[in-house]
Amino acid sequence: MTSQKGEPRLKKSIIVLAFISLGLVYSTMIVGVYFSSIEQGIACTEWPLCPNGLFGAPEERYTVEYAHRLIAAIAAAFIYATAIIVPSKIKRAKKAALIAAAIVSVQLVLGLAVVFSQLNPLLVASHLSTGVSMFALVLLTFLWTSFWRKQS
Ligand code: HEM
Repeated sequence: MTSQKGEPRLKKSIIVLAFISLGLVYSTMIVGVYFSSIEQGIACTEWPLCPNGLFGAPEERYTVEYAHRLIAAIAAAFIYATAIIVPSKIKRAKKAALIAAAIVSVQLVLGLAVVFSQLNPLLVASHLSTGVSMFALVLLTFLWTSFWRKQS
């Protein structure tokens, strides 16, 4: 990576944003695996919201699925914001952030497909692997922005 001497230092808030995105993706994955293993996967058959909507208290049978969707939506918002805010001069980080933003869009649609197909195994497998790929890209965004800031 080239030296960034003479250029203004990368704002810490960008790295913080990338880190929060990373934490949110990680949390979404943990909650996803948890509610998959307690077999709540098809407890909420509607999309994008569960029957009681966004602000109504979720019924017990789909509380964890509700949490999964809510955290996923917040994670997506953070990933999009990170993709916008990472400066283009940090080419690798910008590329990783943009790919992560594209992947999270695919993941949201895959979530819909998983719900409407009533847990088709191929779609569930794709949902899991897409989540892992997304985690890797958000991690790279965080690492490359942190590295860039350290260098400058
Ligand atoms: C940031 C976005 C998301 C990530 C990273 C993510 C990740 C995951 C992961 C890792 C699992 C566990 C898979 C397994 O153990 O086989 C899972 C399960 C699941 N996810 Fe997501 N997910 C996201 C968004 C969504 C959305 C938006 C929906 C639907 C509205 C959704 C619906 C589901 C369902 C129904 C399952 C349960 C599958 C089962 O019971 O086997 N996900 N998710």
